[in-house]
Amino acid sequence: MDLVEFQGKQLFARNGVPVPAAGSVCRTVDEIVAAAEEHLGGGASAVVVKAQVKTGGRGKAGGVKLATTVDEAREHAESILGLDIKGHVVNVVYVEPASDIAEEYYLSVMHDRVNKGHLVICSREGGVEIEEVNRTNPDAVVKRPLLPADTVDGLSPATATEIVTEAELPAEVRDAAAGLLVALFNAYRAEDATLAEINPLIRTTDDRVLALDAKVSLDGSAAFRHDGYEEWKIDGIDADDPLEAEAKAKGIQYVKLDGNVGVLGNGAGLVMATLDVVAQNGGRAANFLDVGGGASADAMAESLALVLKDPSVKSVFVNIFGGITRGEDVANGVIEATKRLGDFPQTLVVRLDGTNAAEGRRLLEEAALANVVAAATMQDAAAKAVELAGQA
Ligand SMILES: Nc1ncnc2c1ncn2[C@@H]1O[C@H](COP(=O)(O)OP(=O)(O)O)[C@@H](O)[C@H]1O
Ligand SMILES: [Mg+2]
Repeated sequence: MDLVEFQGKQLFARNGVPVPAAGSVCRTVDEIVAAAEEHLGGGASAVVVKAQVKTGGRGKAGGVKLATTVDEAREHAESILGLDIKGHVVNVVYVEPASDIAEEYYLSVMHDRVNKGHLVICSREGGVEIEEVNRTNPDAVVKRPLLPADTVDGLSPATATEIVTEAELPAEVRDAAAGLLVALFNAYRAEDATLAEINPLIRTTDDRVLALDAKVSLDGSAAFRHDGYEEWKIDGIDADDPLEAEAKAKGIQYVKLDGNVGVLGNGAGLVMATLDVVAQNGGRAANFLDVGGGASADAMAESLALVLKDPSVKSVFVNIFGGITRGEDVANGVIEATKRLGDFPQTLVVRLDGTNAAEGRRLLEEAALANVVAAATMQDAAAKAVELAGQA
């Protein structure tokens, strides 16, 4: 799950990563005005009105604005609330005291799947898109892969110092930045994050370093280890995909994707291979659904019902390899599901192999269902499902 900026900063703060003085989370112009009054009255020279949406480049899009008076804050409130930033409508705004910025840097820790470890990226050119800096001035971007074995006790201060030194952060803030990096790494690991990015990491005019922005992604698979994980979801920002929510409630492994070929298989490996073969045939999968090892008729029916509910699904590729799951159970599941669902416009392409596959195929043939076709191989099934999706 991705956090919005103010949540990322809360997560940083509770893990010892320095952030600016806490701001206010607002949903209306009046709330923004009241927050600006409070912070300006409390001694802040200015406040920053910041759109809370799960996309970057808010500043460029007019979603981050400085106000030195309450009237100015009101103007910004009016322009930012409801603003559409790359398809994300602003419903929540964070009003925080402005920081005195001397310089802007970049710092992040993320999963590094290629190296099966972590990656720290640090640059003295921050506040702009890091991809852009990497293109135009790659020497200014330090990328340090870390193996899990090297971080058993966290990120060592020595390594953190090496990284910020190599990135040529100024000597005056090097120690502070190294300390912040150690804390950032601890936060990333303690909270089971896959990404913890600070852009910009600022040097204040009095030589402190602070995380002025925060982009944090948490690993949903580790949610069970964290009390309060659900509380990161906030109204107006987190519209969960309704089908994903339904799947979760039913204990079905389902992920919504953006294509139109519904995919259902048994075993995560087979389902991933199915996505690949759909892509190889020029199609795009609408979802990932793993019915699990012992795909019973019931599980099969529930899973199919779920996939067919998605209006973008134009055909469904059911790919089952019977191991423990027997062919006749799969066939009965498909038959049962089609009965329960009544009329539906999509065609199911079923590829059945493995234990009692012949028996399963025979049951399907006998049932003579109008919108079910059997395919002999994975390749044939994929080609057929893609073709049907294209025609629909
Ligand atoms: N609290 C703040 N005080 C002063 N300037 C800020 C503050 N927050 C953001 N800014 C300025 O706005 C820019 C963009 O803000 P940021 O939070 O990074 O949003 P985004 O990356 O989505 O554009 C920052 O690089 C910084 O220059
Ligand atoms: Mg930023």
